[in-house]
Amino acid sequence: MADQSPRLTTAFGNPISDNQNSITAGPRGPVLMQDYHLIEKMAHFNRERIPERVVHAKGYGAYGTFRLTKSLEQYTRAKVLTEVGKDVQMVARFSTVGGESGSADTARDPRGFALKFYTSEGNWDLVGNNTPIFFVRDAIKFADFIHTQKRDPRTHLKPHWRRWDFWGLSPEAIHQVMFLYSDRGTPKSARFMNGYGSHTYSLWNDKGERYWVKFHFHTKQGIQNFSAAEADKIAGEDPDYSAADLSSAIEKNDFPKWRVDVQIMPEADADTYRINPFDLTKVWPHSDYPLIEIGEMELNKNPENYFAEIEQSAFEPSNIVPGIGFSPDKMLQNRVLSYADAHRYRLGVNYQQIPVNQAKNAPVQTYHRDGAMRTDGNHGAQVDYEPNSFGGPVQDPSVQEPPLRLKGDAGRYGWPKDDEDLYGQPTIFWSKVLDDGGRQRLVDNIVDSMGDSPRHIQDRMIAHWYKVHPDFGQGVAKGLGIDAGRAAAE
Ligand code: NDP
Ligand code: HEM
Repeated sequence: MADQSPRLTTAFGNPISDNQNSITAGPRGPVLMQDYHLIEKMAHFNRERIPERVVHAKGYGAYGTFRLTKSLEQYTRAKVLTEVGKDVQMVARFSTVGGESGSADTARDPRGFALKFYTSEGNWDLVGNNTPIFFVRDAIKFADFIHTQKRDPRTHLKPHWRRWDFWGLSPEAIHQVMFLYSDRGTPKSARFMNGYGSHTYSLWNDKGERYWVKFHFHTKQGIQNFSAAEADKIAGEDPDYSAADLSSAIEKNDFPKWRVDVQIMPEADADTYRINPFDLTKVWPHSDYPLIEIGEMELNKNPENYFAEIEQSAFEPSNIVPGIGFSPDKMLQNRVLSYADAHRYRLGVNYQQIPVNQAKNAPVQTYHRDGAMRTDGNHGAQVDYEPNSFGGPVQDPSVQEPPLRLKGDAGRYGWPKDDEDLYGQPTIFWSKVLDDGGRQRLVDNIVDSMGDSPRHIQDRMIAHWYKVHPDFGQGVAKGLGIDAGRAAAE
């Protein structure tokens, strides 16, 4: 034993005499069952992997702080959005969506932008992406969509025709598909991309007023993307490029920062606004609801241990604090359920006790007891029911959210016809946001991806691109070697 090294033990602290040689009957073996150290070591090794996230399996993260510079007290009672100048501790995890946990960081894919703020009123999670919109707007379509991004059940390969088949038949996706195949589909790393809460959330104040809100995080490092060719090359040479980029910047004290903005809409506007503000496939144009700068987020500490702090991190849109609430967004409503459910499966029922997930700055007082891997003392001798006469924790009516006005008969509704402006925002994106080079690269990237699609799937997509803009339809048709006039007519 080296003089300075600590003594090796079993998981229960029993000292180990030899970590190089199993106990055998004679030098040639066989191995004896009684080598409990060997058995513990191999059995633990067999259990090292936990299920990877069903989506967003490949990721990386860091700790940081959020500092509010402008109080939103007019709109909300949430301390995290009203206490100016106070640093709120947080953790962030960035990810690709469709690939497995060892897949390349530079894949063309949305990037997860998951944030957990350890506020004094409990944890607030904002689990967004690097795009302000999404492919579908009803959770009932989410699993089907994700299947198209995963492996073919027959071949275990990832042909692209599956996604184009789904998208062509789900045209609400085309806005997000255009973001995905534009330059921003292959960001260099988390440092060089924006984040968006994407959904419409709500803010509410002590006067019982409610406002709808969208959250934006604008990178202060500037947007930087890989070209499609660079992304492909780096995927082969350095699949962990983006993870390394973030951790090495933090290591060098070059802390990345994001400007935090909100868009705010008074509750009643939702009834008359020309866009359904709860439709996740559409943005709120800045000219209608301007960005309001409220603070800065900085990442400044790398995790000590990836598995403990990042793989075991559990983000969930259901973590909100008094003053912040949900909205009728059909996707968000389901996400409020799905994430905690996924964590109970992936990490176990007591996943809240894993240090990265704990509410670091607020007391946790529940009547939950027992369950696998309970490690917090299980509330000791406290009574485990409520109401009780023994001073156990009680509800606090002062944090009651004002009632949410809902209307309508229960049913399975399609999207109303007057709400079906599927092509309006994609057309603005094509015509006004992208420049000539950006438009050409969008066309090239789509052509590259649609090459393996059967002709009827190509034609269906080209018809959508025509409706966004004739130049777009023609560009993709030409790239695929299809007669443009005929494709448009079909
Ligand atoms: P604006 O002109 O005010 O905003 C356009 C926004 O597009 C910019 O602020 C920027 O948002 C984003 N943008 C700029 N270049 C690119 C690019 N190459 N790829 C992707 N996004 C880019 O107009 P509107 O608010 O009316 O939006 C017009 C269109 O812009 C929308 O239909 C939508 O397609 C797209 N967009 C809108 C966003 C919004 O929240 N309103 C956000 C992102 C895109 P940012 O500063 O967030 O990067
Ligand atoms: C991860 C479900 C839509 C962003 C996950 C996970 C599930 C899930 C089950 C894995 C959780 C885990 O095991 O830790 C869903 C469902 C959706 C949906 C059912 C639609 C109804 C969205 C949308 C966004 C988003 C719209 C962004 C706006 C993320 C992110 C992660 C994630 C960032 C990774 C979080 C992390 O880093 O741990 N999602 N998702 N998801 N999802 Fe979604």
